[in-house]
Amino acid sequence: MLSTKPVTILAIESSCDETSCAISRDGVILSNIIASQAVHEQYGGVVPELASRAHMQNIVPVVDAAVKKAGIAMTELSAIAFTQAPGLIGSLLVGSQFAKSLAMSLGIPLLAVHHMQAHVLANLIPGAAIAGDTGKGAATTANSMQAAAAAVGTDTPLPSFPFLCLTVSGGHTQIVVAHSPLKLEVIGETLDDAAGEAFDKSAKLLGLPYPGGPLIDKYAREGNPARFAFPEPQIPGLNFSFSGLKTAILYFLQQQKANDPDFVTNNLADICASIQGRIISILLNKVKKAARETGIKDLCIAGGVSANSGLRKAFRETGESLGWRTFIPAFEYCTDNAAMIAITGHYHYLAGDFASLSASASARAEW
Ligand code: KG4
Ligand code: ZN
Repeated sequence: MLSTKPVTILAIESSCDETSCAISRDGVILSNIIASQAVHEQYGGVVPELASRAHMQNIVPVVDAAVKKAGIAMTELSAIAFTQAPGLIGSLLVGSQFAKSLAMSLGIPLLAVHHMQAHVLANLIPGAAIAGDTGKGAATTANSMQAAAAAVGTDTPLPSFPFLCLTVSGGHTQIVVAHSPLKLEVIGETLDDAAGEAFDKSAKLLGLPYPGGPLIDKYAREGNPARFAFPEPQIPGLNFSFSGLKTAILYFLQQQKANDPDFVTNNLADICASIQGRIISILLNKVKKAARETGIKDLCIAGGVSANSGLRKAFRETGESLGWRTFIPAFEYCTDNAAMIAITGHYHYLAGDFASLSASASARAEW
């Protein structure tokens, strides 16, 4: 006989510098608690050893807070999901060991989640994606998540399979075809720096603190993106490259500062807008190419850089002009969070794809 018990998942994300725990019930997010680690700011980047120690300090209070906010008892949990890869190995180990101990003590299954797949599936969190429906030839899917969306009081549509996703984070830049929740195919990726690194390294050159992406976003809002022209690399196929842009910015700033030592201070908004504008056009030109080549009309963005206000706007506008349905996760599901681990864990659970207690964390990104 089929069990009617709801599927309740506790998920842990600890791959980099955010300690997060979320609870989902039948794919609906009940809580999503995120503790960010301010300790890294003074070093201009994430210090792995400090990240592991901060995860150790944060994990119990974060899990406690997520369970309390969800209003559930631990005995109601169906499974524990955790980020297995990729990420900082020490950080991953804290989350994975905690998840294993919890699963073992409760006698429930373990679900191993790939962080980059989870970023993509953040677009399947009911009520979380902000959809832009062009109404042109887009079929809606009546799937279980759509029903869950109705249950949480939103009729915001979810993307239909197959959909395309531009995943842009601090360590990865990928174009992915999602054939189904657990069948994701990478069709393009960066050959060097990730888009998030392009933001963070540019910010560093401008003397801004880590992580610089959100600051470039903030200053760019007041600036003119056409003021300074940075080159667009000509990379074949659907791959990306951002290292040339970084070098071009470095030389540009050296030259300008030789003439005017206050160049950056006096032109910060226009410099940020011009850098951001170029990163966005590099990303969206490849996404347009991928949409043309695959004929897919449901498009998503995901990952930390998808929190960028300029990218969100340009992606939406591009979608409107080309007849795509566009989907962008709500802000809190773009940067690292456990809600995306919960939704991915939910699909692993439905597929009966459980991890063994000997599943090991991995710093590498294979999937
Ligand atoms: O997905 P994420 O939180 O962590 C990784 O898995 O890497 O992405 C972090 C990246 C950082 O490079 C950060 O600067 C960038 O996302 N980021 C942004 C914005 N918010 C976060 N970049 C540009 N604009 C933003 N608003
Ligand atoms: Zn991430």
